[in-house]
Amino acid sequence: MSQTLNTRCSEDVAEAVALLRQGHLVAIPTETVYGLAANALDEGAVARIFAAKNRPHFDPLIVHIAAAERLGMVAKDIPEPALALARAFWPGPLTLVLPRQANIPDLVTSGLDTVAVRVPDHPLTLRLLRELDAPLAAPSANPFGYISPTTAQHVLDQLSGRIAMVLDGGPCRVGLESSIVGFDGDKPLLYRLGGLSREQIEAVIGPVQMALNQSGNPRAPGQLNSHYAPRTPLLLGEPALLAWEHPGRRLGYLAFRTPPEGPWMTGRLLSLSGDPEEAARNLFRYLRELDAEPLDYILAERLPDAGLGAAINDRLERAAQH
Ligand code: TXA
Ligand code: MG
Repeated sequence: MSQTLNTRCSEDVAEAVALLRQGHLVAIPTETVYGLAANALDEGAVARIFAAKNRPHFDPLIVHIAAAERLGMVAKDIPEPALALARAFWPGPLTLVLPRQANIPDLVTSGLDTVAVRVPDHPLTLRLLRELDAPLAAPSANPFGYISPTTAQHVLDQLSGRIAMVLDGGPCRVGLESSIVGFDGDKPLLYRLGGLSREQIEAVIGPVQMALNQSGNPRAPGQLNSHYAPRTPLLLGEPALLAWEHPGRRLGYLAFRTPPEGPWMTGRLLSLSGDPEEAARNLFRYLRELDAEPLDYILAERLPDAGLGAAINDRLERAAQH
């Protein structure tokens, strides 16, 4: 694929529609993270997503639609709890894994007989989906394995020259990828913790079983352990103690609300007021900022495991696995 595209960056939905109709890639804003979108029914365009991201073909994509009423165009045999979740949380940070319609290309689903689908909650992207009148396949708009982008600039930093356009919708409101729920018959399974907490999901459909993916789980092949990783080694634990164990190193901390003691070069607090939602919004931006410093290690602490804290801890654990 050409490395020399002149990547446009604007709020122009009509331009994004025109480019997508021609089979080009456009990065789109959502409430969770920026996605790298192509027309889901255009197999050639979908192939370009994998090339631009260096994404392996066994990692399936999420299909984005304009409204729950259009679910029947991409999925079928939808279990009742899935409909209840769609009614409660769409548009929003929830992806449902459902039996797919035959028109969805194999490349989108990695040959699985299911498709992952969601209605994103961002006004520009909802307008784009309505005007395009086609579903958009979009993984997060980062090179495979790196931290997801939460601003248009994050996308440009890594994909400029490889994609036609970034539709600039400002910083993402949630800041973590969507939570992914699949079904074994009618039984719900939580494949990925994300912007919708387990507690919120269970308030609507009752207890869900965690099926958080270790690599090799055939049902969600993309949930590899080493996702979301900065290039700087990240150690997860008690930053002040970890700092003692690494004397003479250039250290940065990532803490929840209180600065740890230690000989830091730099550091970030996710939320001074101790709000997990604010922490989620800041997480990927701070990881990128720390990764840009000349550090030997990023020393990070876990959050309390409730609400979005559990999803943040999941991302930190994956970032710590190099
Ligand atoms: O918030 C989000 O979900 C963002 C925005 C852009 O919508 N997208 C996103 O996509 O995070 P991505 O590609 O980074 O993660 C999608 C994950 C894959 O890693 C894969 O594990 C799972 O969705 N997935 C997709 N199709 C699946 C399927 N048929 N069965 C199980 N898991 C699936
Ligand atoms: Mg991703």
